[in-house]
Amino acid sequence: MSKIKVALVGVGNCASAIVQGVHYYKDAEKEEEAVGLKNLFLGSYHPRDIEFVSAFDIETRKVGKDLSEAIFSPPNNTLKLIDVPKLDVPVLKGSVLDGVGDSVKDIIKIADAPEVDVAQKLKENNAEMVISLLPSGAIEASRWYAEEALEARCAFINATPVFIASDAAWSKRFGEVGLPLVGDDLVDQVGATALHKTLLRLLADRGVSISETYQLDVGGGTESLNTLERTREVKRIVKTKAVETALPYKTSIIAGSTDYVDFLQNRRDSYFWIKGLYFGRVPMQLDMRLNTVDAPNAGSVMYDVIRGVKIALDRGLAGPLLSVSAYAFKHPPQMMRLEEAERLFRKFIVG
Ligand SMILES: NC(=O)c1ccc[n+]([C@@H]2O[C@H](COP(=O)([O-])OP(=O)(O)OC[C@H]3O[C@@H](n4cnc5c(N)ncnc54)[C@H](O)[C@@H]3O)[C@@H](O)[C@H]2O)c1
Repeated sequence: MSKIKVALVGVGNCASAIVQGVHYYKDAEKEEEAVGLKNLFLGSYHPRDIEFVSAFDIETRKVGKDLSEAIFSPPNNTLKLIDVPKLDVPVLKGSVLDGVGDSVKDIIKIADAPEVDVAQKLKENNAEMVISLLPSGAIEASRWYAEEALEARCAFINATPVFIASDAAWSKRFGEVGLPLVGDDLVDQVGATALHKTLLRLLADRGVSISETYQLDVGGGTESLNTLERTREVKRIVKTKAVETALPYKTSIIAGSTDYVDFLQNRRDSYFWIKGLYFGRVPMQLDMRLNTVDAPNAGSVMYDVIRGVKIALDRGLAGPLLSVSAYAFKHPPQMMRLEEAERLFRKFIVG
């Protein structure tokens, strides 16, 4: 297969897992060897077909380093899964804009290096798609990189909770120039939101009347700190809306990130509470905690997205990819039930 030429914007924890995974799974030939990956092959593309051709960040310990080294540089604090060989992809400095929120100013040090012309670099390196892995709340920076992607004629994958793919104006612009666009806010593989929705649907399908439910997270990556400061409200709206689609009736639902606990590092604890009534109005309660590490939780879904976007490019499709977005993002242009999104994604892959 031809290589899938990918540019990364934001070489944080999530980028680290995505880059490591390509090397971690590169020798897997059979599905059973690829433990932890939903699809080893997708439309005949393998994760090893992903080639990182450009990377942009603003942090002094990352800019100027090879991508293979920058992914392990602080303040990244996610798991090391494997050694990554030199990739000959230097991390270049993009525009800072609102990339560094007040809460992370003491942690993130901005590099002195000059800013590069991002669109020009994307063109020079033949990037086909740009993945935005900017921090939550970096609205201006997200829009700026989307403009650079448009200028360089690259598809755009928006993993962040900034509304781009779900914004009609952006969708129209990508469609007009013949480029695919997907987003917004990537769904995790072992996602608290997906688990919450599944639990609620299971209970509702079995006739339980749910009266109250919440889902609260604590984590220790810079992303958790950013979320706490800048996107707590928007995350809460996005997650609550997503969870609401699981139930056929209205009830009291709160779902949203809550707090930062530094010693958790890149770990995340998600707490779930569900209260309801079953036969004879007898009460039931469910109280549960899920422990995960954040960044690797993005890998499997992101590889499906990258390959979905590549397939769209192969087929000359443009504008918002509704099935890919509904399958892999929390705030897609068109929200669907999990099963429906999965079905349409499969249909899209086989064409
Ligand atoms: N499981 C997951 O990791 C997951 C799931 C869903 C969504 N996301 C989203 O992915 C994004 C990245 O998450 P993360 O955990 O890697 O965050 P992170 O804080 O570890 O990484 C963000 C990176 O962006 C860099 N950055 C800041 N401003 C920049 C700018 N102007 N230009 C270029 N780089 C800049 C930072 O220096 C840092 O390296 C977040 O928006 C998060 O919500 C992640």
